[in-house]
Amino acid sequence: MRRKLVAGNWKMHGSLAENQTRLTQLVLALKGNEATDVAVFATAPYLFQCKSLLAASAIKWGAQDVSQFASGAYTGEISTSMLVDFGCSLVLVGHSERREIFHETNAIVAQKFAAVLSANMTPVLCVGETLEQRESGQTLSIIVEQIKAVLEEVSIADFKQAVIAYEPVWAIGTGKTATPEQAQEVHAAIRDLLAQYDANVAQGIQILYGGSVKPDNADAIFAQPDVDGALVGGASLNSDDFVKICNAAG
Ligand code: 13P
Repeated sequence: MRRKLVAGNWKMHGSLAENQTRLTQLVLALKGNEATDVAVFATAPYLFQCKSLLAASAIKWGAQDVSQFASGAYTGEISTSMLVDFGCSLVLVGHSERREIFHETNAIVAQKFAAVLSANMTPVLCVGETLEQRESGQTLSIIVEQIKAVLEEVSIADFKQAVIAYEPVWAIGTGKTATPEQAQEVHAAIRDLLAQYDANVAQGIQILYGGSVKPDNADAIFAQPDVDGALVGGASLNSDDFVKICNAAG
């Protein structure tokens, strides 16, 4: 039985004061929830604050992006070893905002995935199609391409230490959620793809859904057999909503 993981992607939101309130609320409210894995992805300046406020709790924290390079003259970049220094155990790679706005290619995402694994953290590989791609029937081929690019860089066994997040681009921040059936179809296809390489890895991997997950649609999404949790954007900024989603998972 796969455990569910609910992770909040705070994106470029927050402040020391806001985070302090939110993290304190989460620690208190989720104390009794041992059934679900919970994590937050904060921007880099706040990772130390996450470490300070979450270290004594079961809530994990991670970064929203990382450099594919180990160290060197890469102004503005943050390395995996720096994230390890700040206690991160998870890192998002290939979020659609990174792919679209910052032009991260499948190849760069694959290198980042490998870098996170080498640092003994868990990469959360984000995949998903645009509205145009869905409407032209390319959803599954796009996702297969995104995952296969990573399999060119690492082995299937490396996915034992990874999480996949299916985030249809058209559902992110739009209030337009994929139906539970649409999510299930893609999640099952991802698991089938991995099973072609290794059935155990396919069975064990957590596949999260992301895209306008809210307290009122979480139950139906989590009821799908291949949905193992959620990557939550907007609703993760509201502690009450995020806690409700976490409790819906477990
Ligand atoms: P929303 O939940 O705001 O749609 O964002 C989803 C997302 O991008 C999480 O990574």
